[in-house]
Amino acid sequence: MPYDEKNPLRQLSLDELRLRTSAKWRTYPPDVLPLWVAEMDVPVAEPVVRALTDAIALGDTGYPVGTGYAEALDAFARQRWDWDGVVAERTAIVPDVMLGVVEMLKLVTGPGDAVVVSPPVYPPFFPFVEHMDRRVLEAPLGDGHRIDPAALEAAFRQAVAGGRRAAYLLCSPHNPTGTVHTAEELAALAELANHYGVRVVADEIHAPLVMPGTRFVPYLSVPGARGAFSLMSASKAWHLAGLKAALAVAGPAATDDLARLPYEVSHGPGHLGIIAHTAALRYGGEWLDTVLTGLDENRRLLSDLLARHLPDVRYERPEGTYLAWLDCRALGLGDDPAAFFLERGRVALISGIGFGTGGAGHVRLNLATSPEVITEAVRRMAAALERG
Ligand SMILES: Cc1ncc(COP(=O)(O)O)c(C=O)c1O
Repeated sequence: MPYDEKNPLRQLSLDELRLRTSAKWRTYPPDVLPLWVAEMDVPVAEPVVRALTDAIALGDTGYPVGTGYAEALDAFARQRWDWDGVVAERTAIVPDVMLGVVEMLKLVTGPGDAVVVSPPVYPPFFPFVEHMDRRVLEAPLGDGHRIDPAALEAAFRQAVAGGRRAAYLLCSPHNPTGTVHTAEELAALAELANHYGVRVVADEIHAPLVMPGTRFVPYLSVPGARGAFSLMSASKAWHLAGLKAALAVAGPAATDDLARLPYEVSHGPGHLGIIAHTAALRYGGEWLDTVLTGLDENRRLLSDLLARHLPDVRYERPEGTYLAWLDCRALGLGDDPAAFFLERGRVALISGIGFGTGGAGHVRLNLATSPEVITEAVRRMAAALERG
């Protein structure tokens, strides 16, 4: 693979990547090409490496304190999204986005209450919600993988029946379809949620990963969203999932709720995680832009490759995230094409089944890799189909 100084997605060879010990590289045998879990095939951004190595050299490995992470997110949000809603006093550091989601949902719902989600959606939404004794109610995405107000309204009405409390867990941008919700769509959601008294918790972990020509709109910035929470983190955009630390941000009308967050929650995030995320948000903008350019090329490359080698697979280029959602239903491989591509093609993708309604017959492919790996993955998938 030709090394490209300007593209972090072209800086590590497969041999180097296979030395990694993380889930992406050690779950399957070495003859399997892994394009499944949301880890990126990039070196860590230089400002993050510097912050971490300085901290190690200093022995700065104690407990975290302060609002530096929130201030870095505030500066990033102002610059990227022209939004000034990250106010340090209305934030809390949580161990990671999913545990933050759980804690926010606990603040505004009780056992037996419903949490509405819009499938196909990030599979852990289901078990995390159920593990805390809440019920998942589905309001599936509609045409073009966009939020469907009619489905939302039906689910909200059902969720609050009998005077129960309820929440909506928004995924923005949406994993796995890469949908970037518009300001209008989010405002309509806020209006419906307010009408039914449903609290919104927005998982915005993919927020920095928006493709050229599309704009990310923070949920808390839309009219009517003052009572919501957002969970943000540098983990997806800078490949820091192993350095856990995320931020919960409360809207102005949710400040009192956030104040009830149990003290124990702040025990989860690590000081080095916070250092890494803070450095990424403060100084990692240029690096992020090079990644976004590479991802934009990759999502186009995948269109070309599929048109040429797997023309029956339907794929719409994601507007955000580095995830590609492939509709394989016309291939005749049943509900779980990922199992076929793994066994016969030696390519690991994520099966659509776990994403809820609308997921069967689909696979999720991770575009945060080199063009060469994407090309080889499609070649293997097509060859497996040909062999049958
Ligand atoms: C939508 C979404 N939320 C949460 C996570 C996990 O985040 P964390 O590791 O911070 O819990 C992911 C990981 O891919 C994700 O895609």
